[in-house]
Amino acid sequence: MIDTPRPPAPHRVLVVLGTRPEAVKLAPVVRAMVASPRFEPVVVTTGQHREMLEQMLTALEVVPDVRLDVMRERQDLHGLTSRLARELGAVVAGAPFDAAVVQGDTTTAYSGALAAFYEGIPVAHVEAGLRSGVATDPFPEELNRRLVARLARWHFAPTAPAAENLRREGVPVEDVEVTGNTVIDNLLWVVGRGLGTSAFPPARTGGGPRIVVTLHRRENQGDTMAALARTVADVADARDAEVVLPLHLSPAVRDAVLPVLGDHPRVRVTGPLDYLDFTATLADADLALTDSGGVQEEAPSLDVPVLVLRRTTERREAVDAGAAALVGTDPEEVRRYALDLLDDPGRLRRMASVANPFGDGRASARVLERLDRDLTP
Ligand code: UD1
Ligand code: UDP
Repeated sequence: MIDTPRPPAPHRVLVVLGTRPEAVKLAPVVRAMVASPRFEPVVVTTGQHREMLEQMLTALEVVPDVRLDVMRERQDLHGLTSRLARELGAVVAGAPFDAAVVQGDTTTAYSGALAAFYEGIPVAHVEAGLRSGVATDPFPEELNRRLVARLARWHFAPTAPAAENLRREGVPVEDVEVTGNTVIDNLLWVVGRGLGTSAFPPARTGGGPRIVVTLHRRENQGDTMAALARTVADVADARDAEVVLPLHLSPAVRDAVLPVLGDHPRVRVTGPLDYLDFTATLADADLALTDSGGVQEEAPSLDVPVLVLRRTTERREAVDAGAAALVGTDPEEVRRYALDLLDDPGRLRRMASVANPFGDGRASARVLERLDRDLTP
């Protein structure tokens, strides 16, 4: 009797995620691994976010194997980092993982990469190579992503400029793979299954534009965020706009935004929307004002122009392509820029029609192909 050769054992891969954007961008990687006979993913959620993470996991059909619970109200970076180190350390200690996957630039991503590194588990960094060029902006994300680059074995860069940033830092080119951003994989998956329900009313209430606003960055919290909220009110009043603002659960964000916009007649402040409803709302808008990373990437795919309310961006591709503008955080500058744009329908249309520069929906497949190739003995 002839023995049939046994297929090689599947790769046991730890996937660490803890916040809303990590769930969005790792969901397609996890779904692809679950569907592949070559992978045995073990999904660990840190709970850096609690309700906002669970909401995403449900909508995106990701089922965690291990749920940690590190979130505290108004957590500071010291406490968060130390809880993550302790709890992730216990997950990886002595565990037989072939690789660990982290995404982006959160404290969960940095702590996950460090925990794996301490155990000699090779780290795959999804969305590698984004750089604003300023170590403290966004804070602490720019430093987190630079630190993960020092810890990673594989660098999955979403775009060629991101790969070039890594090359300039001395990362060997053979360790870098340009994949596209997994956010586009996820968005196409959602579009294919049908978006959720828009938070705008079904019929427009007047002739004014529809605007989606999200704000959350640490460096904008406090007076800057309160001033940006007042600018949103000014723009809404000046152009009779309908605004939807799905509010982040961070108390620091709520403290800045709610006193200004909580009762504004033209602004609908909602809780965080699940991914299906958020993308439906974004797709329904004429303009997005945001300090979010992910929204900068999704809006061009949904034909929505974006004004980035930050001093820097690590997503120059959207700005260079003409789909987004980096307007900063000066209230008068933001107000002027937004009003000028809303008064120029031709320019709005041109921004909306720019093709998304962030990927073709096959990023996760490329991540899996490369890992399978390198992990197969
Ligand atoms: C974190 C990430 C940031 C990412 C953002 C996405 C770090 C340092 N920051 O920032 O990179 O862009 O997530 O949204 O990794 N909270 C809840 N429930 C939740 C989530 C948060 O109550 O489901 C509250 C808690 O009081 C928590 C606070 O929000 O302490 C801040 O959460 P944290 O993850 O520390 O910071 P974010 O600003 O959300
Ligand atoms: N998002 C969502 N519901 C909301 C607001 C945002 O599903 O109410 C999604 C959004 O589509 C994007 C991600 O959350 O994919 C971005 O998260 P966030 O802005 O909190 O983080 P960042 O991308 O800035 O790190």
